[in-house]
Amino acid sequence: MKICVVGSGGREHALATVLRRQHDVVVTPGNPGIPGSVSTPATGIDADLYVIGPEAPLVAGLADELRAAGRLVFGPGADGARLEGSKAWMKDVLVEAGVPTARHGTFTDADAAFAFLDTLDGLYVVKTDGLAAGKGVVVTTSIDEARESVRDYLSGSAFGDAGRTLVIEEGLTGPEISVLAICDGQRAVALAPAQDFKRIGNGDTGPNTGGMGAYSPVPVATDDVIAMVMNDAVAPTLATLRAKGIDYRGVLYAGLMLTPTGPKMLEYNVRFGDPETQVVLPRVTSDLGELLASAAAGDLGAAPTFDDGAAVTVVCASEGYPRDLRLGDRIEGLDAAESVPGVSIFCAGVDADARGELITSGGRVLAVTGQGATISEARERAYAAVAHINWPGMQYRSDIASAAVTQTTQGEVR
Ligand code: AMP
Ligand code: GLY
Repeated sequence: MKICVVGSGGREHALATVLRRQHDVVVTPGNPGIPGSVSTPATGIDADLYVIGPEAPLVAGLADELRAAGRLVFGPGADGARLEGSKAWMKDVLVEAGVPTARHGTFTDADAAFAFLDTLDGLYVVKTDGLAAGKGVVVTTSIDEARESVRDYLSGSAFGDAGRTLVIEEGLTGPEISVLAICDGQRAVALAPAQDFKRIGNGDTGPNTGGMGAYSPVPVATDDVIAMVMNDAVAPTLATLRAKGIDYRGVLYAGLMLTPTGPKMLEYNVRFGDPETQVVLPRVTSDLGELLASAAAGDLGAAPTFDDGAAVTVVCASEGYPRDLRLGDRIEGLDAAESVPGVSIFCAGVDADARGELITSGGRVLAVTGQGATISEARERAYAAVAHINWPGMQYRSDIASAAVTQTTQGEVR
């Protein structure tokens, strides 16, 4: 098959790399670090399958446009993508489908929002209704900070129109997992689970980011937990969408917290996770292109298979991320990093300078994935590669998957 991947980040680089094992792949617009990148828009490319990476074009209806032109597309239409485009609507769908989730309210008025905050129990969560590149969520024990966020969001000063409607939730606690379900409109199959590290700093400190690293498999995400997620969350959600006339073909990304009272849904995304994709897909041993094409055609094929090993990815980010970015620095050491056994480097915020050398051009610049027989080995390889990479102000977390290594070596969970 000829497959067109839409997007320009590390997720799309990973998709292209894994799809290319069996198929011809072009990436639009891609970036200078992704082989096969072309500037022609998807609508101008003749392919057998289109795989849309980011949420923005999905929310904007690119899948609908391509389908209207008779194309086979993996990715929901604008109707289904609203799950990510509006957190308020997503919460309504969760409640309608009977999926356990945090108690919440939706607000456009500060006084009503403050009154709801007063009903919560000491951990406050304030989210933009609209898209904010993973950064529109504040989780805090300080009611003053929560109130300040409410003011900043509603005034439009923090996230423009995305924040003029906001969702406030009770804070939940527990380990988080990401389960990516491949859906054909009726049925779904889970990919191997991953865990993402959302905060910028070691020990889960500092502001939320798009994701600073990930690993797969996840010791706490047992087969029973995954079965529960698929049966009690993904299946009823697909049924609820269908009842609304929404034929959801694409990834339903379930972001869950394993709370003391059971798994609860934090959010749905309507696409592959970034950087979860950079650890989940390299582990696939079956034909990913066939799987996505079957889902796109509404006739889900055989469940994918995964290797018995593990993958860990470490995101290297620009100075200042997730706030004011320093950009345009030469990225040093990529060749040495890539020569570490078991390592793949996925390029996200990169551009090329006049001499064709890669420079930083975004917040999350690279995802450095190590694969190995165990989480420990995968982690060592990823960090051995990261040690070769450098540019002024480069930042990364040094604790990605470290707790999982401790858990597995102590035999706590598996
Ligand atoms: P979201 O974009 O909704 O997934 O939120 C981003 C991150 O904020 C999540 O991955 C969690 O770490 C955190 N978060 C979101 N909702 C809650 C909640 N109700 N309780 C605690 N943490 C949350
Ligand atoms: N890694 C979180 C996300 O893709 O939204």
